[in-house]
Amino acid sequence: MLKKRVVWGLGIVLLLTGSFVSAAKSAAYAMPDEYSASVTKQVLLAGGNAVDAAVAAGFVLAVTYPEAGNIGGGGFMTLFHAKAKNTADKMLFLDYREKAPKAAFKSLYLDKDNNVIPYRSLVGYQASGVPGTVMGLWMAHQRFGSLPWKALLAPAIQYAQSGFVVSKPLAQTAVWYQKWIANKSKDPLNFADYFSDLKEGELFKQPELAKTLKRIAKEGGEEFYRGETARLLVKEMQRYDGLITLNDLQSYQAVWRTPVVGEWQGRQIVSAPPPSSGGVAIIQLLKMKALLQPKLDHALEEGKKQGLSEQVIKTHFYAELEKRVYADRAFYLGDPDFMDVPVEALISDEYLAKRVQTVLMDEISETKQIRYGKFESPETTHFSILDAQGNAVSNTYTLNMPFGSGVVVTGAGFLMNNEMDDFSTKPGVANIFGVVGGKANEIAPEKRMLSSMSPTIVAKDGEVEMVVGTPGGSTIITSVFQTIVNVLEEGMSTQQAVDATRVHHQLLPKDQISYNPELPLETKEALTLMGYQLKKNNYMGDVQLIVRQNGDLSAASDKRGRGVSEVF
Ligand code: GLY
Repeated sequence: MLKKRVVWGLGIVLLLTGSFVSAAKSAAYAMPDEYSASVTKQVLLAGGNAVDAAVAAGFVLAVTYPEAGNIGGGGFMTLFHAKAKNTADKMLFLDYREKAPKAAFKSLYLDKDNNVIPYRSLVGYQASGVPGTVMGLWMAHQRFGSLPWKALLAPAIQYAQSGFVVSKPLAQTAVWYQKWIANKSKDPLNFADYFSDLKEGELFKQPELAKTLKRIAKEGGEEFYRGETARLLVKEMQRYDGLITLNDLQSYQAVWRTPVVGEWQGRQIVSAPPPSSGGVAIIQLLKMKALLQPKLDHALEEGKKQGLSEQVIKTHFYAELEKRVYADRAFYLGDPDFMDVPVEALISDEYLAKRVQTVLMDEISETKQIRYGKFESPETTHFSILDAQGNAVSNTYTLNMPFGSGVVVTGAGFLMNNEMDDFSTKPGVANIFGVVGGKANEIAPEKRMLSSMSPTIVAKDGEVEMVVGTPGGSTIITSVFQTIVNVLEEGMSTQQAVDATRVHHQLLPKDQISYNPELPLETKEALTLMGYQLKKNNYMGDVQLIVRQNGDLSAASDKRGRGVSEVF
């Protein structure tokens, strides 16, 4: 649904690329803000493809959505290339996740007594991984872009130079963040020098960022890693004890990987492989649900007789599945360039059939008993784009927390990520999202930290059926899972599917279910009686969803965010 029409900025791309090539007739987008929505539409109308639109939107969000849109962070892009001959070649994945600097080491965030130093991996100069976003967008454009790189960066430059009107959520998040970082860094932070003017309804300009984007537009993506921007970034790191060096930047590479693909209900679920845990986890959840569907149906029938709501039964059922998935995540998942991640085994029917054997339909499985299975083996942002040729981009990228580490690269005007916190700083110690990890995700030089980001495409009969993703840290996985189920199994409309209440359990904290928005009182009482602790999570995702079913295209942005979506 198109919530708002943006007049400001319309025509930027058309002016820069010259002529109006052809009107797309069956394209759609679901974007996290009005500016990225406006630019995406213009690029597609100007004859650009989904990747062109993703590049333009990716840079615009680095300006207009500074809490998560970024050039100082990293992310993942799942692509569907409609023209490729066979189904496998249509599905692609670009990993532009940050990497640990070469100087990083396993106990980086531990003190001499082996205790985690509070906030060191989250705030300040040592919290950042080597950024991947510019390389990712550059490599996607090099392979699939059809409009000039320079033209695609023009809207972002314009918004940085001339300003954009600040939304209420952005202004509120900036105030919250400024308070949150106070006294958490041993070194002074320059966040307020750059972002204290984010005031609701006012024009916000970023002249240094405009200059950076102009350099990248003129010299290409490599500029960020080798040019003046790289020099400024390293200078910022050297101001205190930041770890990123010129050598780190020069050797950074994004990677084309094979996406994780799971067969489910006559479809392919195409999603993020390691170093994300997302694709594996979503496919595990969908397949385990399918395996237990008869048991679930029976429990629902019995529940009805006893006057127990469907929501209670399903919430408990999802929690049981999610417990097992997050146990596997903590043990097996990490950077595939550093270790063997048994992806195929983890999503195999054989393994999952064993994994569901201990699921209890009417009581909570004891947390301590849920270990990884054995084989015989808040802030991120997401956008979804489908062009008229059937190509799709599902892209999630992040600084990790809103506004990342609080460090702005002086002279270059962009925020650095605090992605190092996604490593396991110490076995068993939870990160900011409450998830734990072990050896698979320990810190090592040039390693990528484990992620939950899950840009996903559902394909059916060789075409895109769904493009979906969301921010939300460890809740990303369960939000994408529930959105897919809402549309394809519960028969909800696209808008209903993204707005529906979501519930989340991640093994730890023990027996805790978080939810958003409000659950009915009876549901909460029944779940509490079962032994769950319920926690309202004020921020649980911002799903951007496109669905094509029976030839009908629809798109929806989550009511929890400030997104804009449209079919045109
Ligand atoms: N930084 C959140 C994630 O990658 O999962």
